[in-house]
Amino acid sequence: MRVVLGVSGGIAAYKACSLLRLLTEAGHEVTVVPTRAALEFVGAPTWAALSGRPVAAGVWDRVHEVPHVRLGQQADLVVVAPATADLLARAAHGLADDLLTSTLLTARCPVLVAPAMHTEMWTHPATAANVGLLRSRGVHVLEPASGRLTGADTGPGRLPDPEEIFSAAMALVDGRPGTPQQDLAGLQVVVTAGGTREPLDPVRYLGNRSSGKQGYALADVAAARGAVVHLVSAPTELPVPHGVEVERVESALEMQEAVWRAAAGADVVVMAAAVADFRPARYTETKIKKRHGPGDEEASPTVPLVRNPDILAGLVQERGAAPRPVVVGFAAETGDADGDLIHHARAKLARKGCDLLVANEVGPGVTFGQDESTVHLLRPGTDEPRRVGPADKRVTATAVWDAVLEVLQAR
Ligand code: C5P
Repeated sequence: MRVVLGVSGGIAAYKACSLLRLLTEAGHEVTVVPTRAALEFVGAPTWAALSGRPVAAGVWDRVHEVPHVRLGQQADLVVVAPATADLLARAAHGLADDLLTSTLLTARCPVLVAPAMHTEMWTHPATAANVGLLRSRGVHVLEPASGRLTGADTGPGRLPDPEEIFSAAMALVDGRPGTPQQDLAGLQVVVTAGGTREPLDPVRYLGNRSSGKQGYALADVAAARGAVVHLVSAPTELPVPHGVEVERVESALEMQEAVWRAAAGADVVVMAAAVADFRPARYTETKIKKRHGPGDEEASPTVPLVRNPDILAGLVQERGAAPRPVVVGFAAETGDADGDLIHHARAKLARKGCDLLVANEVGPGVTFGQDESTVHLLRPGTDEPRRVGPADKRVTATAVWDAVLEVLQAR
């Protein structure tokens, strides 16, 4: 197999020597394409000796062979390790200002990218957006490992072990599991997450216990499977998943505006957020104070509430008979004297008119704030709900996206 090993300019470039060894020992013909910065870390003689081939470093070398298109055209696999933040940015935006980025533009084979950089660079929204763009085009971007970085600091950003990159690369070519399938590539999805805060005065709000973990897992899994993800997030402390564009909101009304805007042109809207059903009827511009006059010790204010709009039901109504967006609702349910969880979930599915309802089993210490959940997936017109879990919220997220794909395929 003809492999192009792209190396960009980070300290982890030395680890690419081991990866190169693994590739050549497996019998592959590897051409190393280091960027100029990579050559500051590991010199051309090392690459040439280890690969047994000349190093392809510049677009101006051996011009008669037209290397800037030939290498990419002839490759069966391109692996970039390490990929710096700069390389990801150039690749995401289609720049072709050196041999490696030109090769990435001309390659039509599987492309695997293994980023390595400092945590701040990896978690910067610019890098996250670039990773999202690359994934949406079918490039397989590995998650960096966590641990000791170049200096004394630690965090996500380490290049995964060469063995791990090697097996991900081989899995990619064979179509074996190991890297997520890009079966959501080309889809624009909107995910809501977290619990809304309904402001009462400048210091107080009405809130709920939603952690946002399920919504963030949904966004993360969708991005890893190639979707372009717009996450509308009520306040949480969770890190933004890679490749996901996040829009932060607080109240139900703000969430409604953001969702309506993002839903135009979206293929799927997943409403995992816990949206408050009520908000204080009036926002008080100044802090509501305790009074200290005679008789005031007993007095306490009454806070009238008004209903919030149902964002989900509004979306379904607005969509009418149009096939898109597919709308997915969530329901946190318990059984009671009127019926079991499934009975209540079916009623909600009918009331909301959505295409898929994810019913969560809730109870003391169950689901809210936890890493695991048990869900039942219900679709209109199908008899048996599908039960998933108890399982990590990423696993339930995967099952939800599988079900969404089925809905899309049935249209
Ligand atoms: O009616 P209930 O709040 O149980 O419905 C939950 C589902 O409806 C969730 O998907 C939630 O995001 C959505 N919802 C909404 N707008 C509201 C209340 C809930 O979109 N005001």
